[in-house]
Amino acid sequence: MKLAATGNPRARQEELGQFLTAPPVADFMASMFGPLPRTVRLLDAGAGAGALTLAFVSRCCEKREDVRAIEATLYELDEEILDALAATMRECERRCSDAGIRFTLKIYSEDFIQEMSLRLAGDLFGTPPPAFDAAIANPPYRKISTDSGERRALRSVGVETSNLYTGFIALIQRLLFPGGQLVGITPRSFCNGPYFRPFREDFLSQLELRRLHVFESRKAAFREDSVLQENIIFHAVKGRHQPREMIVSSSSGEQGDGITETVFPFAEIVHQHDAEKFIHIPSTTGHASAKETMDGLSASLASLGVTVSTGRVVDFRLKAALRKEPERGTVPLLYPCHFNGGTVHWPKLNARKPNAILDNAETRPWLVPSGMYLLTKRFTSKEERRRLVACMFDPDQVKAEWIGFENHLNYFHANGHGLERLLAVGLYAFLNSTVVDQYFRRFSGHTQVNATDLRTLTYPDRNTLQAMGREMTVLDLAQDEIDQLVTKHLHARR
Ligand SMILES: C[S@@+](CC[C@H](N)C(=O)[O-])C[C@H]1O[C@@H](n2cnc3c(N)ncnc32)[C@H](O)[C@@H]1O
Repeated sequence: MKLAATGNPRARQEELGQFLTAPPVADFMASMFGPLPRTVRLLDAGAGAGALTLAFVSRCCEKREDVRAIEATLYELDEEILDALAATMRECERRCSDAGIRFTLKIYSEDFIQEMSLRLAGDLFGTPPPAFDAAIANPPYRKISTDSGERRALRSVGVETSNLYTGFIALIQRLLFPGGQLVGITPRSFCNGPYFRPFREDFLSQLELRRLHVFESRKAAFREDSVLQENIIFHAVKGRHQPREMIVSSSSGEQGDGITETVFPFAEIVHQHDAEKFIHIPSTTGHASAKETMDGLSASLASLGVTVSTGRVVDFRLKAALRKEPERGTVPLLYPCHFNGGTVHWPKLNARKPNAILDNAETRPWLVPSGMYLLTKRFTSKEERRRLVACMFDPDQVKAEWIGFENHLNYFHANGHGLERLLAVGLYAFLNSTVVDQYFRRFSGHTQVNATDLRTLTYPDRNTLQAMGREMTVLDLAQDEIDQLVTKHLHARR
């Protein structure tokens, strides 16, 4: 790439896509690496003044027992920054020598894109591409037009992309050993931009995402340069099997501010059947405020006189007693398929599940006396908006003396009997609220909701729940209506 002969440092910086990483961010990035080999071959492509290598080296020096040698390879096109880079590398040498780590260094003042494309394409006879155990990168960002030299070079190794940063990441990925790690800070645009689809496919088929970090403020990471891009940091490992779960974290970007971490199933980050391969980054801000709300609640289920149990009818054990349709001598048997917009729709004659169970000496121990019960699904599908799906069983709607709750649902009761109506409806509103769902997702990364999970939650006191129940004149409210109602009552009690 030829640099414009311009006296304007800003224009030059933009041409180079040069935005230097602030030391706290560099340190945070370095902290994201998993275990490293004793000799680490490290790549810093687009090294600038060397902030990322310095942060990486410093972290290795602190954890003395792990790394014994660092072999660093740095690429930096801007000759004007090379003195600063050399000075930072001297600092790396000094720290390594103090920590007893062997530090070797190669700095190339060359175009990383051109050089690596040629080597990866096998066009430079006798110089195979290097390979690395770790790469730390804040690649340059600038659009690259279809007929540019960079675009042609990238195309020669099968990378079709319109920005320098995705070109850098695609090449770095190709230079990692299997199991090699990459921590990068880049604009967030590749996560869902339609033009980045080929890049996403390439990235997600060769790199296993382990962690994503977002800054709540757009300017946070590069304050001095007033970059208004929204940036993310990712940690990925060269390999073809995406994890079942991964960490999404966020921070305000202000120095010293805390980091909120949440574990999500990978399927929530990249949806299994999404042809676009969008990378969803759930907001963790909501999770933080959910925690604050829940921490402010003082009641427990036990203090409310309420118990939650798993449905007692295990259908395959009582097979002979199950009936597709209600008949004389049977009582209602309820499965999650009977949940219907907040209430129970029973019987459901076209459902695959039985609707009734014989009421006899064998089955009676597994039945409960009719009453007002709150039911929750034990397993929700990934498509469901909420993890916690609660529904009311109202004895006025399903007339029976006894009822069977099947094992795929949990039921809230008062010592084996139904709940007081207002309390039950209040619990219904609370458990279906976004705040509880977000709180739940902080600690549960999967779609299963155990009775124990429900027992460990904090709850509003009885009066607040009853007040919520009083205001819920209909159950089938929209999510934001439930949220407004619940939030209003939670605030009123403060
Ligand atoms: C966003 S800056 C990041 C610098 C440094 N890694 C940091 O985090 O502070 C990207 C760097 O890549 C350099 N650069 C731009 N194009 C390059 C290329 N084709 N090859 C090598 N370096 C390049 C720029 O000069 C700039 O210093």
